[in-house]
Amino acid sequence: MPVRTLRTPSPTPTPRRQRRALGALAATAAAALAAAALLPAGQAGAAGPTLRSLAEAKGIYFGTAMTQSDLNNSTLTAVAGSQFGMLTPGNEMKWDTVESSPGNFNYGPADRLVAFAQTHTMKVRGHTLVWHNQLPSWVSNLPGSQVQGAMRNHITNEVGHYKGKLYAWDVVNEMFNEDGSFRNDAFYNAMGSGFVADALRTARAADPDVKLYLNDYNIEGQNAKSDAMYNLVKTLKSQGVPLDGVGFQAHFIVGQVPSSLKANLQRFTALGVNVAITELDDRIPLPASSANLAQQATDYANVVNTCLAVSGCVGVTQWGTGDADSWIPGTFPGYGAATMYDNNYQPKPAYTASVNALGGATNSPSPSNSPSPSPSSSPSPSPSPSPSSGVGCKVTGAVNAWNTGLTDNLTITNTGSSTVTAWTLGFTLPAGQTVTSAWNATITPSSGQVGARNLSYNGTISPGGSTSFGYQANHTGDAGLPTQFTLNGTPCTTG
Ligand code: XIL
Repeated sequence: MPVRTLRTPSPTPTPRRQRRALGALAATAAAALAAAALLPAGQAGAAGPTLRSLAEAKGIYFGTAMTQSDLNNSTLTAVAGSQFGMLTPGNEMKWDTVESSPGNFNYGPADRLVAFAQTHTMKVRGHTLVWHNQLPSWVSNLPGSQVQGAMRNHITNEVGHYKGKLYAWDVVNEMFNEDGSFRNDAFYNAMGSGFVADALRTARAADPDVKLYLNDYNIEGQNAKSDAMYNLVKTLKSQGVPLDGVGFQAHFIVGQVPSSLKANLQRFTALGVNVAITELDDRIPLPASSANLAQQATDYANVVNTCLAVSGCVGVTQWGTGDADSWIPGTFPGYGAATMYDNNYQPKPAYTASVNALGGATNSPSPSNSPSPSPSSSPSPSPSPSPSSGVGCKVTGAVNAWNTGLTDNLTITNTGSSTVTAWTLGFTLPAGQTVTSAWNATITPSSGQVGARNLSYNGTISPGGSTSFGYQANHTGDAGLPTQFTLNGTPCTTG
């Protein structure tokens, strides 16, 4: 089940440099954080610094997995869009959705998730290209001589579709058995272990910049399976195969985070690949006791602190946003409560513990029956971030309308105390309005809830400064201004 990723062969893949690069992205997140701080306290998880801002201030990301149906849950999307800076589609990029019959590609569901991520300035991890599960039977039924061609075509088409839009791809998922032997799936049976290098090379040819990962479960500690992954990575790197990172799924049982996690991650980064926690959850026998919720908080802090302590660990992704959308109860009967948010998307002790591990402080959002989280054993090596106290924005607009069309000029003013270095202004167009062209920004999608992103020359807005952009739209009667403005996720005032 688990998945993992490896890292590509930049001449010297120095994990430190990559962390700094991610840190640069945090500048935009500072605005998002400050914005989140302005949300009403009653909004789940939005008060105070966010996981996303704190993580990015430390040079890592905090991600969540979302499925298409999650987009219909406004409570979930409010949490996901403010608290997380990376999105992994839970199912929508898998082979059975994308190419259910040979050569017929369906990207609609995943495109909707990517659009959500873009609107909220989240990055995206692509998951997954080559995997024995959620694989259509037409692939497993192919004669062995045709599997390589089908695999290459699938990778080329899907990576090509998302070229330039993703942070990383889980190229191969779950290729090992527990004893470290290769799983006898369609790909191994047709090509032997060389299918992994073949898949990585094919992905690299389709997108030269996206990070390429191998991903698996039960490789978080040092054991026969992680030894097999380690040896594979070593071999691939020595052969110059493009590989950027290894993903450790981290589907844990409460209290069972392996003690060798840190040493294990470090032996991988020593090979010149990045590492990421890609599918974190921590399942608890139901009903969850307060003792187990406290242990879960310790486990989460342990994982976050470990990633912070390992140079080359780029981030942590939770598999799902809250307990209500987690895959655990459906897959592991009797278990649940595996995430940082409860069934109503209220933060649990694991959320507070993660925030504390990232150097932040919260207004103690824990349920009344839950114990205080105990921050994990290994302290973060980085200095505490100074959460930005002032992220704020104001939007003014002027519409010029005629019978079926309009132009709208919008001005964003940075009312906070931090410089914004890249911006996405989210807003909701009145029903019936469709954007047909834009200036000083790109706007996607063209109707409904949209995001306007800066162009190369106008990303910076100093405190007190303003920038303007505009668009032309068709309308069907309502020529009003848009509503619900957010700057990098932070709500804006209007007027
Ligand atoms: C799971 C999804 O969350 C479920 O909705 C689906 O029914 C099965 O797959 N390892 C992986 C993920 O790499 O793709 C899996 O996701 C969970 C285990």
